[in-house]
Amino acid sequence: MTTQRILDFLATRRPNGPCLVVDLEVVQDNYHAFEKALPQSRIFYAVKANPAPEILRLLAGLGSSFDTASVAEIEMALEAGATPDRISYGNTIKKERDIARAHEFGIRLFAVDCVEEVEKIARAAPGAQVFCRVLTDGEGAEWPLSRKFGCVPAMAVDVLRRAAALGLDAYGVSFHVGSQQTDLAAWDRALTDAKSVFAALAAEGIVLRMVNMGGGFPTRYLSDVPTAQAYGEAIFEALSKHFGNRIPETIIEPGRGMVGNAGVIKSEVVLISKKADNDNLRWVYLDIGKFGGLAETMDEAIRYPIVTPRDGDAVEPCVLAGPTCDSADVMYEKNPYPLPLSLTIGDEVLIEGTGAYTTTYSAIAFNGFEPLRSYVI
Ligand SMILES: Cc1ncc(COP(=O)(O)O)c(C=O)c1O
Repeated sequence: MTTQRILDFLATRRPNGPCLVVDLEVVQDNYHAFEKALPQSRIFYAVKANPAPEILRLLAGLGSSFDTASVAEIEMALEAGATPDRISYGNTIKKERDIARAHEFGIRLFAVDCVEEVEKIARAAPGAQVFCRVLTDGEGAEWPLSRKFGCVPAMAVDVLRRAAALGLDAYGVSFHVGSQQTDLAAWDRALTDAKSVFAALAAEGIVLRMVNMGGGFPTRYLSDVPTAQAYGEAIFEALSKHFGNRIPETIIEPGRGMVGNAGVIKSEVVLISKKADNDNLRWVYLDIGKFGGLAETMDEAIRYPIVTPRDGDAVEPCVLAGPTCDSADVMYEKNPYPLPLSLTIGDEVLIEGTGAYTTTYSAIAFNGFEPLRSYVI
């Protein structure tokens, strides 16, 4: 969403080169929408989506908690004003010395998905709360998170039993239904598994108390997505179905849904060309590509809305590519992108919905192009 504030900023500051501009008012609106849609859930903003200090400070001030993936992200959240009890170390893959460092900072909430990780936490963060991540199928997500994280529910039972035996607080279960998840039923499927872990452990006298329902809340790219309210209703219904009137504490970890639509990348057309005189397909090269922040165009997974100064003129599909000398730096080719025929070298375009997973993906000077600059307004 290109807000008037973003347009005014670009018009007055005229930043040179590609840059991301994030409107904090949109982030604030998104936070309130999540709060309203899921009033019983604690919100842990997924810092990895966009760790700009201004965003973290705003959210800390609004009362958000933070899901972090590394010691560096923990430090950023603390720096922004979050107290350790509002930070979870949500990465299931951690060095033992990083767990110890987090524990020194006062972090007491850790994600695990195997017994080996539980043993590290028992040594480095004795007594901490742990939640075990279960696998999901990722169906319905535009950016599925694969089998890298989580274990099957039967193994989660073993993992949490082991945590309790080692003196940890076996606190709950987590899942992530895949990013940009537009199927509201995905949470219902994952909650079925979460409930089965609760039930198996309860039978052994281990009472879990929390379900971390992860991220996955979408942002609008080219098509409309259900509102936060619709997600809230579907999730509440699924929680009631599985847990009756004994709904546990819940957490959500929105990343994309919190900041995606708050950011716009300004980019410039560097070149428009064809591969042969009789070839109709234009190649449009921007000054930003997969290595400059648009990594989620990998496999053409995320398709960003692009606003040009020639919108309204006749369009034809083009291949869209980045500026580096790397042949992988092509964004849309299998499914070419319609852009105005009148588009011209030097035109500035706005790539919308780019507030999440752009600056952090941008490589350090790959091919000499500097990392994506970001302005938070
Ligand atoms: C543990 C965890 N929580 C939350 C998120 C945020 O997900 P999303 O951006 O889909 O909301 C991620 C993203 O990778 C994650 O790994």
